[in-house]
Amino acid sequence: MTDTASDRPAAPGCPAHGGAVRMAGLEYQQTPSQLYRTLRREHGAVAPVLLDGDVPAWLVLGYTEVSYVVRHDELFARDSRRWNQWDSIPADWPLLPYVGYQPSVLFTEGEEHRRRAGVITHALEGIDQFQLARDCQYIADQLIGAFAGSGQAELMRAYAHAVPMRAAVQMCGMPHSGTDTEQFVDDLRISLDAAEGDDPVAAYARVGERLRRLVGEKREKPGPDVTSRMLSHPAGLTDEEVVQDLISVIAAAQQPTGNWIGNTLRLLLTDERFALNVSGGRLSVGEALNEVLWLDTPTQNFIGRWAVRDTQLGGRQIRAGDCLVLGLAAANTDPQIWPESHVGAENSAHLSFGNGEHRCPYPAPLLADVIARTAVETLLDRLPDLVLAVEPEELTWRPSIWMRGLTALPAEFTPAVH
Ligand code: HEM
Repeated sequence: MTDTASDRPAAPGCPAHGGAVRMAGLEYQQTPSQLYRTLRREHGAVAPVLLDGDVPAWLVLGYTEVSYVVRHDELFARDSRRWNQWDSIPADWPLLPYVGYQPSVLFTEGEEHRRRAGVITHALEGIDQFQLARDCQYIADQLIGAFAGSGQAELMRAYAHAVPMRAAVQMCGMPHSGTDTEQFVDDLRISLDAAEGDDPVAAYARVGERLRRLVGEKREKPGPDVTSRMLSHPAGLTDEEVVQDLISVIAAAQQPTGNWIGNTLRLLLTDERFALNVSGGRLSVGEALNEVLWLDTPTQNFIGRWAVRDTQLGGRQIRAGDCLVLGLAAANTDPQIWPESHVGAENSAHLSFGNGEHRCPYPAPLLADVIARTAVETLLDRLPDLVLAVEPEELTWRPSIWMRGLTALPAEFTPAVH
């Protein structure tokens, strides 16, 4: 059962929201596919929802509807300042880090967005994918070396999140290890994913300072890295624009790629179709990576888009300034595109990287694939008898409706001497 707010009056200015579903609370659902099926049955392809603090929004659940929203930025745009609910948002609102306007590529629109996204695409295109694979293998080897001798590891923290974090830092032109980098990596982790006792605000400020210093260093002495290519691009971004967009690139790369690796390792270690120790006939790492993007995608829901004018979507009346959450996971498993319930095709027509103007910019999905594939393959090569250290049912998902990732992935293996 979903927790609905049908006993409450409709949200002011939003008559369609009688019967809205509270999204805060749904994060404890451990099987989102069932949750989205129920929501779709009860509410159709566009469901009225209440975000934290009962702030109304729309959750777009249909494949066709999500595709329509992301392809029509003249109707559904990214600048959150047009939200009609700002009056009811407190200063400490938990979703503010994702929704509060920042002068980065994420919130720009039209010509300005094409300018900023064009610079990022150019800078990422300069990455040699073979070199990236070699760098990731080196990073992976170093991380594995730190726990290989003990015969056990918690792979989410020690590996799945650490590989893309270090790869992203190195791409931007910082060394992948050393005290300075360790501090930066730690601050990034705290600002993106604070644990008990962390101070994410202070960590985020240090991330900005370090990137400002990096931009200064690369202006002085450019190198073969993303930061230098962004600075030398003819679009002429200011130092502050480069800092903002580097934060977006690193943050956008880290959490989803880390969870993509973790969710793929889980699938490989728990599903007999991928049984690792049985030779012959097993499905490949590539197939596991792709299946995860269809069925356990890291970015489950993305906030979002804001309606530019009054319009309609999936039979709902959308008002100018309404917020729409992109239900990417729901769209990927939409029964309309899977009439025979054979969810999880070998093609990549899923919406896990978004679509349209603000999609995950080419070639980021390819780079993410290189990072994730190298991380998974290196681990399985180095520790061939790797198994889960708990029963599959004991694995738990993080309580988040936004990101699908495990709280922990404890594994064991024969200690390796090296
Ligand atoms: C090397 C790794 C990655 C990099 C550098 C990267 C970079 C970015 C950037 C810069 C954006 C903002 C685009 C814009 O607003 O114009 C973005 C958006 C996005 N990325 Fe990625 N990303 C990476 C990996 C991933 C992965 C692994 C996933 C999920 C499987 C993912 C899913 C998304 C989604 C859903 C969006 C938002 C699309 C939208 O607003 O419609 N990204 N990414």
